[in-house]
Amino acid sequence: MKAELTPSSAGTPGRMEIVPMTASDISEVLRIERASFSTTWPSDAFYNELTTNKLAHYYVGRIDGKIIAYGGIWVIFEDSHITTIAVDPAFRGKKYGEVMLLKLIDEAIARGAAWMTLEVRESNVSAQQLYRKYGFTTVTTRKGYYSDNNENALVMWAGNLKGELYHARLSALRTRFL
Ligand SMILES: CC(C)(COP(=O)(O)OP(=O)(O)OC[C@H]1O[C@@H](n2cnc3c(N)ncnc32)[C@H](O)[C@@H]1OP(=O)(O)O)[C@@H](O)C(=O)NCCC(=O)NCCS
Repeated sequence: MKAELTPSSAGTPGRMEIVPMTASDISEVLRIERASFSTTWPSDAFYNELTTNKLAHYYVGRIDGKIIAYGGIWVIFEDSHITTIAVDPAFRGKKYGEVMLLKLIDEAIARGAAWMTLEVRESNVSAQQLYRKYGFTTVTTRKGYYSDNNENALVMWAGNLKGELYHARLSALRTRFL
C-alpha cells in the first residue's frame, strides 16, 4: 500500500510519499534513529523485523527520494503496537510525524486492529501530544522502563479503532492533509 499525503501547514518543504521500508533503507533510517533516540535499535533489529517478523509492518516517508521519517507497527489480531516512529530533526514540526502516525493507524485498522498501544518516555511531551490528538490515553506507567536513564514509560492506548466515533475523528484530522 502506498500513501501520498501532503501536510498543509505553511512552510512545509513538500509532499511526503510513504512506502514500505526495505532492507536497503536501513542505513538511512539509522541516521534518523541516532538523531532521535538516546538508545537506538541496531541495524540487525530493523533487518530482522523486515525479514522474519510476519506481524511487523514498517514504512518510510520520502521527500524527493530522501527518507525523512519512518515508523512501524505490529498487528496481532485485534491488537496493534506502534514499535517506533521518528522524523528527521530537520523536518520536525511540519506535520510529517502526524502523517506517518496516520499511516500506521490506517495500516493497523486495514489489518483488523481494534486497539493500538505504545510506550513513550514520560519526558517526551511532544510525542504524547501527538498521540493524544489521535485518541491515545495513558493507561499505566512502567517504572524505570528505559534503561539508559531509568525513565518511566507511559503506556498509552487508543481503542475502538473500528468504531464510528474513531472513524469520524480520523476523517476530521485527515482532511488537513488531503
Ligand atoms: C514525535 C515526532 C515523531 C513528531 O513528529 P513531528 O513531525 O515533529 O510532529 P508534527 O509536526 O507532525 O506535529 C503533530 C502533533 O504533534 C504534537 N507536537 C509536535 N511537536 C510538538 C512540540 N514541540 N510540542 C508539543 N506538541 C508537539 C502536536 O500535537 C502536533 O499537533 P499540532 O501541531 O496540531 O499541535 C518527532 O518529534 C520525533 O521524531 N521525535 C523523536 C522521536 C520520538 O520521540 N518518537 C516517539 C517515540 S514514542
